[in-house]
Amino acid sequence: MSALADPITVNPTSGALGAELHGPDLSRDMSDAEVGAIRQALLDYGVIFFRDQAFDTETHKRIARRFGDIFNHPFLISDDPDVVTIVRNPGDTRIVGEDWHSDTAMVTEPPMGAILIALEVPDYGGDTLFANQYLAYDALSDGMKAMLADLKAINSDRMVAGPAAAESSANRSTKSRTGPDWIETKTAHPVVRTHPETGRKCLYVNHSYTVGFEGMTEEESKPLLEWLMNWGHRPEFTCRFRWRKGSVAFWDNRCTKHIAVDDVHNARRVMRRIQVSGDRPY
Ligand code: SIN
Repeated sequence: MSALADPITVNPTSGALGAELHGPDLSRDMSDAEVGAIRQALLDYGVIFFRDQAFDTETHKRIARRFGDIFNHPFLISDDPDVVTIVRNPGDTRIVGEDWHSDTAMVTEPPMGAILIALEVPDYGGDTLFANQYLAYDALSDGMKAMLADLKAINSDRMVAGPAAAESSANRSTKSRTGPDWIETKTAHPVVRTHPETGRKCLYVNHSYTVGFEGMTEEESKPLLEWLMNWGHRPEFTCRFRWRKGSVAFWDNRCTKHIAVDDVHNARRVMRRIQVSGDRPY
């Protein structure tokens, strides 16, 4: 365990990414120095975790605003546009976040991150996995890096909202827009993006949103795209987080992917998430 900035200590989760931060009480009015240290840990570790936190929705918004503007989710249905409550009830057969993804990649400016707190958790199961997309890029051959350098990919929400998502949405408690109030959002983003704060390159394609390469058919794109998407979550690029009530994960959505593990079966799991706005990938 190494000291970050008194009184915060950092305990890395895996060799790839992730760290538990001990010390901060996120519900308190944090000093600029404390927020700066948390932000630095996010940049260093890609995803950071906190234990034994307790805060209501308004405090959750206040915490998120220390890191940027709140991003309103375009297709997950919620009473409060700033918040998504991710509920898994006994009987649900589908879950939110069941494929490897970075959040909301189909918009022009996808969120920089998300802050998720566990409100109700099963005794076991329902972990979340994260994957470091800097490592995924760094480990590619020079030939592959050269081939991807100028390539863009089309990202769409048509697999997770709209008519194609009607069946999955019907079988889970947290719903997507699937009817006439949904219009497909599609944006081309670089396959390899540069992180705006660290300057490092990372892979930026994912199973939930990326449908093909710009200038190619989806059929032509599929073999390489599938390979890249699967490469991005090789075990050596990942960490796994086991939730407890009051645990918080804050991930950098620009350089990581994540997936919710669908092994909760007949228990209930309730999480509250607020996303922080980001920039256009370049
Ligand atoms: C998500 O944001 O994809 C959901 C993560 C989770 O519920 O563990």
